[in-house]
Amino acid sequence: MPAIEVKPGIYWIGVNDRTTDLFEGLWPITREGVSYNAYVIDGEKKALIDLARDIKTGDLLNQIAQIVDPAALDYVILNHMEPDHTGVLTTLHRIAPNAQILGTKKALEMVAGYYHITEGVREVKDGEVLELGSNHKLQFVSMPFVHWPETMSTYEVNHRVLFSCDAFGGYGALQGAIFDDQYPNLDFYEQEALRYYVNIVALYPKPVLKAIDRLAGVPVDIVAPSHGLIWRGQPERIISLYKKWAEYADAPGDPAVTLLYGTMYGLTELMVEAVAEGVARTGLPLEIFDVRHTHSSYILPYLYTRRGVLVGAPTYEGGLFPPMVDMLHMAEHKRIFNRQTAYFGSYGWSGGARRDFNTLCETLRWNPTEVWEFKGAPTPELLREGVAFGTRFAESLL
Ligand code: FEO
Repeated sequence: MPAIEVKPGIYWIGVNDRTTDLFEGLWPITREGVSYNAYVIDGEKKALIDLARDIKTGDLLNQIAQIVDPAALDYVILNHMEPDHTGVLTTLHRIAPNAQILGTKKALEMVAGYYHITEGVREVKDGEVLELGSNHKLQFVSMPFVHWPETMSTYEVNHRVLFSCDAFGGYGALQGAIFDDQYPNLDFYEQEALRYYVNIVALYPKPVLKAIDRLAGVPVDIVAPSHGLIWRGQPERIISLYKKWAEYADAPGDPAVTLLYGTMYGLTELMVEAVAEGVARTGLPLEIFDVRHTHSSYILPYLYTRRGVLVGAPTYEGGLFPPMVDMLHMAEHKRIFNRQTAYFGSYGWSGGARRDFNTLCETLRWNPTEVWEFKGAPTPELLREGVAFGTRFAESLL
């Protein structure tokens, strides 16, 4: 996509990445893609805000060159050091050795660590102002742990544009337009922003809320993150969504059910259908995931926002079915604590999943209302019990 003017003299020069399969080497984006949004401010002094992954070096340099000769840049501002935003730095520094690299103290330590660049760098302080001329003035705002400890935002004071980097970002390559107000339906980007939030940022809810508090009273016409949509029509919408999501961290979750299951020969799966019928009878929202085939990236947003977690999985070698163990360990890693839960699953000759499940519940601080192992294939009578089991669980959330 060609460079796009965001405000007079301020340009989006980002790139889409539809090649990478796993963001951070971990989170699937094969179908959705991601954008690395970068910005040029064309004042008397020329500033570049954030970069892109190294696999997009050529594309980003071409984007910059539409507005300014990359060699003539005065400043390269690094809001965040993660290589999805700085991978181009080594090449750019060779092309523009006189461009001063600006970042927080910690960011510059990381620049030295990641890219071995120690010359031509300058620390900026929280609240520091940088005049670029031609009616452009930047202010740097420290935002540690949104997403890494070195992170800051850059605010263009005269045009009220917030360059927030990871904060307020989301997965999803841009589909021919960069602004929220150019899309008739934002469902895809909002869902992908939530998935991104839970995958990437959710470990740090207090820094997110602190950053949002600092924005109170700051006039923001445009939220310009470094992933996903640029929020021009409703900048307050993405800020309020991030606030809502950060507040889930200390909340019990919505009265709704996530049903996680795994099955070896379909016996536990038979019971899944019965339990789901029982939940559905209460009218509570229910989402079902087969953990064998669904990456945790897609499941975590549901676990993060919903109070109830039903776990259906068989005993495997005397313990809980390993794909389920992996899923619950990821929930632990993301600190999705204090959920209401119940377990059901089939066993062949002896149980054992129950013990693992109870141990995991202690670690996760999940409250198990029922733990139910059944032998072999469920009989019609057991399936009727499964329906009642599902209903009891759902009613316990009301
Ligand atoms: Fe988009 Fe934390 O990097």
